[in-house]
Amino acid sequence: MTLWSGRFGEGPSEELLAFTVSLPFDRRLAADDLEGSRAHVRGLGRVGVLTNDEVAILIAALDHVGEELAHGIFKFLDSDEDVHTAVERRVTEIAGAAGAKLHTGRSRNDQVATALRLFAKRELNETARRVMALQRVLHERAVAAEDCYLPGYTHMQRAQPVLLAHHLLAHGWALARDVDRLLATVHRLDVSPLGAGALAGSSLPLDPDAVADDLGFRARFENSLDAVSDRDFVAEALFDLALLGVHLSRIGEEVVLWSTEEFGFLRLHDAFATGSSMLPQKKNPDVAELARGKAGRLIGHLTGLLTTLKGLPLAYNRDLQEDKEPLFDALDQVKLALAALAGLLATAVFDVERMQAAADTESSAAVDLAEWLVVKGTPFRDAHAIVGGLVRDSIERHVPLSELVEAHPALGAEALPLLEPGSAVGRRTSPGSAGPGPVAEQVNRFADRLARDEERLA
Ligand code: ARG
Repeated sequence: MTLWSGRFGEGPSEELLAFTVSLPFDRRLAADDLEGSRAHVRGLGRVGVLTNDEVAILIAALDHVGEELAHGIFKFLDSDEDVHTAVERRVTEIAGAAGAKLHTGRSRNDQVATALRLFAKRELNETARRVMALQRVLHERAVAAEDCYLPGYTHMQRAQPVLLAHHLLAHGWALARDVDRLLATVHRLDVSPLGAGALAGSSLPLDPDAVADDLGFRARFENSLDAVSDRDFVAEALFDLALLGVHLSRIGEEVVLWSTEEFGFLRLHDAFATGSSMLPQKKNPDVAELARGKAGRLIGHLTGLLTTLKGLPLAYNRDLQEDKEPLFDALDQVKLALAALAGLLATAVFDVERMQAAADTESSAAVDLAEWLVVKGTPFRDAHAIVGGLVRDSIERHVPLSELVEAHPALGAEALPLLEPGSAVGRRTSPGSAGPGPVAEQVNRFADRLARDEERLA
């Protein structure tokens, strides 16, 4: 029996059911659906649409269904189109006449939007928590990295040495923006649609403000049409997760590069690497590669939902049922990726010697030579040309840069200490820069930020 059988002479075809059911995936909303229903019932009781007895019977039945679901003994039927139908069917079986009053003044349209918002609130908060776990690993590794440095790259060409801690925290700050975005999305979606009915509200004396309050939402909807049509919050969540996925992908890409024999900056722990079925010598960075690869899928979920929403007329259309699978999958994939990357980064071994040797090329101090000339009064553009010329000479004539510096009238032996191994990174002294002083300060600021975000999440 469907919820709408009164209007129909015949039941739905098998083909229709197979195509339209959402139960296989939306059963994940069961607990949130129950919570929404309890608040709805209490609301109906407060305004006198249900008697106290009916409220008690319905709440007991909803609790009973909750128990059955929690213990895995809830029996879904083939005819249950979605989780909301299944719960209402079971409540009616348990509560009899009162059960038939559960859906008073409510539509699945406001019901499903309510459950999905409750779900998204909790899940996005949980995702933010897991992002912070990865941030904590980056922070710990940054502290442990002390004064280790490596080349910083632009265009994948060695540019200037940076502290390893600086490089790790660069990813940490990107993740801090992800946490911020997730929390902002939670704030915006924290609005109850319950009471919007199918699209136009109700002739019954509903009190959506009180119901919103009961459910812990910070506000109720302003417009019933918007309330049942709005999936901005899912699109925003998918964007947040896609961008977070892009950040994880960029970390993954660097792990892949750094763990190559060519770079050799990082060795993966056995527990976070894979082998080859054919090549006995291989140790592969599959976790990092999948962190990179999943981003494609996450971006796909975002563009998929935006395409579904584009051009939808008000108010509810069944197209909106397509909001759930991408959201569920994006949350699942991001959570798995966060945990795996956190483990990988916590256990990887950095090869400090390889990193520092790669950074200790004479030309990585080129801009320092130019800035040394600037301090002596040479305009920067001229200084840049002088040092650029020396680097070109050094490459073309196979002469060490230091020899040319020493022989240059504007530079000379006085400038040679600039080329000493390990010295360049120490000259990065400006706020927010890559040298030991500013990075020590940054590490503390990052720890403060983590502590503040933890409070926001608590
Ligand atoms: N399973 C549906 C969804 O997720 C429930 C809403 C169906 N509403 C309707 N009017 N057909 O959107």
